[in-house]
Amino acid sequence: MIRLDHRLATSELIGGHGITSEDWGQAIKLAQDVRAKVQARREAGELGFCELPYEDPSDILEFVRQRRDEYEDFIGVGIGGSALGAIALISALCPPYYNLLPREKRYGPRVFFSDNVDPWELRGLLEVVDPGRALFNIVTKSGGTVETVATFLVVRKLLEEAVGRRWREHVVVTTDPHRGDLREVARREGLPVFHIPPNVGGRFSVLSPVGLLPAAFAGIDVEGLLAGARDMDRRIRTSHPDDDPAYIGAALHWLFYGKGKWIAVMMPYARALREVADWFRQLWAESLGKKYNLKGEVVHIGPTPVRALGTTDQHSQVQLYVEGPPDKFFTFIAVEDYGSDFVFPEYYPDLSAMGYLGGRRMSELIKAEQVATAYALAKAGRPSVTITLPKVDAYHLGELLYMLEMQTAYAGELFGVNAYDQPGVEAGKHAAYALMGRPGYEGLREEIEKFLGSVRV
Ligand code: PA5
Repeated sequence: MIRLDHRLATSELIGGHGITSEDWGQAIKLAQDVRAKVQARREAGELGFCELPYEDPSDILEFVRQRRDEYEDFIGVGIGGSALGAIALISALCPPYYNLLPREKRYGPRVFFSDNVDPWELRGLLEVVDPGRALFNIVTKSGGTVETVATFLVVRKLLEEAVGRRWREHVVVTTDPHRGDLREVARREGLPVFHIPPNVGGRFSVLSPVGLLPAAFAGIDVEGLLAGARDMDRRIRTSHPDDDPAYIGAALHWLFYGKGKWIAVMMPYARALREVADWFRQLWAESLGKKYNLKGEVVHIGPTPVRALGTTDQHSQVQLYVEGPPDKFFTFIAVEDYGSDFVFPEYYPDLSAMGYLGGRRMSELIKAEQVATAYALAKAGRPSVTITLPKVDAYHLGELLYMLEMQTAYAGELFGVNAYDQPGVEAGKHAAYALMGRPGYEGLREEIEKFLGSVRV
């Protein structure tokens, strides 16, 4: 079971910047209402992500079983919520440098992602991947996101050049079951399709085929992932708010935001979890960064999520964190069992920089550095919470991801915003359509040109 320790967020330990028992009392008083609102949304069918852990993944596993030996490479094409969850799963649960392992040491194809329309990057990918021996997973919930459909057009051409009419055997689509142009393409071309339930938003879709199909191709224990998420769901639903890690996380962020700590830093002490912090950055930013509250008032609210990595960023960011503006609340992610270790040899016992390390373990060092950083921050009055994973495996990652999704749902109610829309992202998407000449956006193009002068793209 993952654990959460928030002692270093309290005024007893960090002084004036910490949470007092009155603050916490206020959060606990609100808990019943917040949890009831989330439960009501769930019962109304708005929170499809809560049901994903209970879905049967056997169609995904069967597809992968049949197809994994056919391809050298699996390439996920998607952006935002249609990429970050899958990237997080692969980074966390595959060995580091997975793609460099020889085939016999990998479960299946190498796994890459294309989540941009940077021609240099795509060209680079094509230098190392032979499209004719690859499977492209085109992922877009709306079916129309320009980056994804544009990359699909390029990919189809490359595939036709490589394998002619058999290009269809190299594409699998993940999209909404009822709407969108990608669904229509899949229908016309007879492409295999996995569905993202309509009530699951992009950034909450990691446990849908968006994340599970790439994960299964990499041999990740998809059932373990879902079991961890299910157990976390039960834990959240049955525990007192004082013991509910999702509510504690949400309430602390909300309380600290109210105390001027507008920046939320997530700092895992495990390279495997760096992309989980990236995934969380999107979840937190898109869900909580809003102009309007639920009453329709202009609020311009939302904590700014920042990703850091221990210990690497101790030598990059921690100076600012300890001595800069006191505007941050830190979430550390610690790991008990790294699944691997090194004992430091006892060389140079007379040299003070090295002698004391002899006989100690590398895992002890990284753990000590996490505690040391939390301590240094606490001594400077900077609050933190530490989430500890017994191990980075599928089960505990399932727990963590689901917990952070529920934390976001609770935070939406505490901040008083709709955590499930993204009008700011849509505005940029529409402006890009207008600039690229998509029919129906001529008026917007005129408006943009009036504002910016003539635009060259
Ligand atoms: O969370 C979200 O809804 C967004 O980040 C989307 O995932 C992103 O914009 C991509 O959208 P789509 O899956 O429709 O291509």
